[in-house]
Amino acid sequence: MLHVINHPLITHKLTIMRNKNTGTKEFRELLYEISMLMSYEITRDLPLEDVVIETPIAPMKAQMISGKKLAVVPILRAGLSMADGFLKIEPAAKVGHIGLYRDHETHQPVLYYCKLPEDISERLAIVTDPMLATGGSASDAINILKKAGCRNIKLMCLVGAPEGVEYVSKNHPDVDIFIAAMDKCLNENKYIVPGLGDAGDRIFGTI
Ligand code: PRP
Ligand code: URA
Repeated sequence: MLHVINHPLITHKLTIMRNKNTGTKEFRELLYEISMLMSYEITRDLPLEDVVIETPIAPMKAQMISGKKLAVVPILRAGLSMADGFLKIEPAAKVGHIGLYRDHETHQPVLYYCKLPEDISERLAIVTDPMLATGGSASDAINILKKAGCRNIKLMCLVGAPEGVEYVSKNHPDVDIFIAAMDKCLNENKYIVPGLGDAGDRIFGTI
């Protein structure tokens, strides 16, 4: 299921990111901040359990997040800043890394690295990647997680193209997709239009 997270703070920050005059430092910081805000929505259905505590005034029955195990799985490179934002909200989450790059000619994802927490099959995995273009990278990353036994997966992106959302939804109807904006289309190089350019290059200053 697709969730487009609509919030003025996110929209404002994303507009600054899209601007081609925004530099690397600001771009990276904004992606981190938006990821924190999106994490708030993505974790909305985490189960709570009753606990008994004592305030300075009186004992009370309160609630805390129950022992749900989480993992955040950035798709390298661009997913890293989003994972950092998620970890700020959920610091106890374990981290897996999936290295994928898009071949410049075929636009197909190529796997070059994978390291996942040993108990990933018991965890809710949040896959992070700012750009959901053709959907090939996200879909492959989810396949890898499923092969590792993971059954509870959410995808957190910043900007989506209709093609990518459709591709991931078709391949993985069980995975909830969260984006901050749905853009128009892909161009001939499979870049999102209007998008924000090459996310990895803009985050790491490798343009
Ligand atoms: C970008 C982006 C996604 C992918 C999206 O990574 O961060 O991983 O492209 O495209 P898709 O939906 O068509 O698969 P890129 O391949 O440029 O690698 P990088 O992060 O190492 O720059
Ligand atoms: N990868 C990016 O970084 N940007 C796009 O628009 C598409 C793929």
